[in-house]
Formats: sequence, C-alpha cells, structure tokens
Amino acid sequence: MILLSLCSSMSLLYILLLLPAVSLAINLKPYNETAGILFDDVNSNKDDVITRHELRESFDKYDTNHDDRISHKEYTQHVNASTPALLPLSLELYKIYDVDNDHHLDEHDFNNLFALIDSDSNGRVERSEFVRYWTILLKNLEHLHSHDNHNNHNHNHNHNHNHNHNHNN
Ligand SMILES: *[C@@H]1O[C@H](CO)[C@@H](O)[C@H](O)[C@H]1NC(C)=O
Ligand SMILES: *[C@@H]1O[C@H](CO)[C@@H](O)[C@H](O)[C@H]1NC(C)=O
Repeated sequence: MILLSLCSSMSLLYILLLLPAVSLAINLKPYNETAGILFDDVNSNKDDVITRHELRESFDKYDTNHDDRISHKEYTQHVNASTPALLPLSLELYKIYDVDNDHHLDEHDFNNLFALIDSDSNGRVERSEFVRYWTILLKNLEHLHSHDNHNNHNHNHNHNHNHNHNHNN
C-alpha cells in the first residue's frame, strides 16, 4: 500500500535520487524513517491521523480502470512502470493485502489492512501505530529490497538446493 504511496512521495523520490545505483538497489533504511515518510504521504490532510478513507485513497493510483478494485495485473503494471526496483517487495506486499487471495484488492481487503495497522482498534491510525507496523514489515521483508548484504546469495543457494532435491524425488 505504502509502496504505492512511497513511490509517489516527493521525499522518497529525493532519497532515491541520492542513491548511486537506484535501479539495482533501494535503501529503505532506517525503516522507521521510511515508515514516517509513508505516513506523511498517506495522511493526505496532514492531521496526523490516517482514516480508512485516506488508506483507501492511497491505493487509487493503481486502479487504472476505476472499478474500485485493484487487480493483480493493474498493480503489477503500475509498480513495474513507476518503480521496477520495488517490484519484488511490492508483489509480496500484495499477497499480504489480498487477504482472501482472489487477486483483487477491494473494500474487504482495505478494511482488513486498516484493522491490522490500527492496533488499538479505535478506528484511527496514529503515527506511532503506523510506524511500528511498517518498520516490522520492512524488516521482515528485507531480503526482497535490501541488496547490501549476503542474504540474497544465501536465499538463492537454498532455493537451488531445494529445487534439486525436489527434482531428484
Ligand atoms: C528511528 O529509530 C532510531 C533508533 O531507535 C531512533 O534513534 C530515531 O529517532 C528514530 N527515528 C524516528 C523518525 O522515529
Ligand atoms: C516489466 O516491464 C518490462 C519492460 O516493459 C517488461 O519487459 C517486463 O515483462 C515487465 N514485468 C512484469 C512483471 O510485468
């Protein structure tokens, strides 16, 4: 969701432009600060609270055919065109958003996502809730967006290993 917002954010663009090889690597660290940028972007009326409506609006840019649902194809095409380096991370985020796994993000999915972030269930997402949620999520999905360590090599190695193993069976 956020990546979505993240991509259109002027502040994030600024950060990305500072990177030497932006098409190959994206540095989202420190995660709590990236999460803060995302919060400011989604919080469109700048009142320091995100409502369901604002969260929903942050997905509008993906809804190319304006049917109020975001198909997997619409989402993928938008991300691939705007920020291809974020595609692996964004595809994983889509799986999280698409709770009922029907390859469309709709009202049910947006409400569910809102409830996940609104940890005190008061119907409003405060900055602290949002930053906590996204800091953990970006950390958990680090292997999909951070290329500054050896995690990817290990990941590929394990993948090949499993593949060979299955093949032998
Ligand atoms: C992010 O976390 C670091 C380390 O805990 C902290 O020093 C910093 O103030 C935090 N930044 C924001 C914007 O919360
Ligand atoms: C992303 O865009 C490139 C260039 O247009 C295209 O070749 C590639 O197939 C696209 N990938 C996906 C997953 O859509």
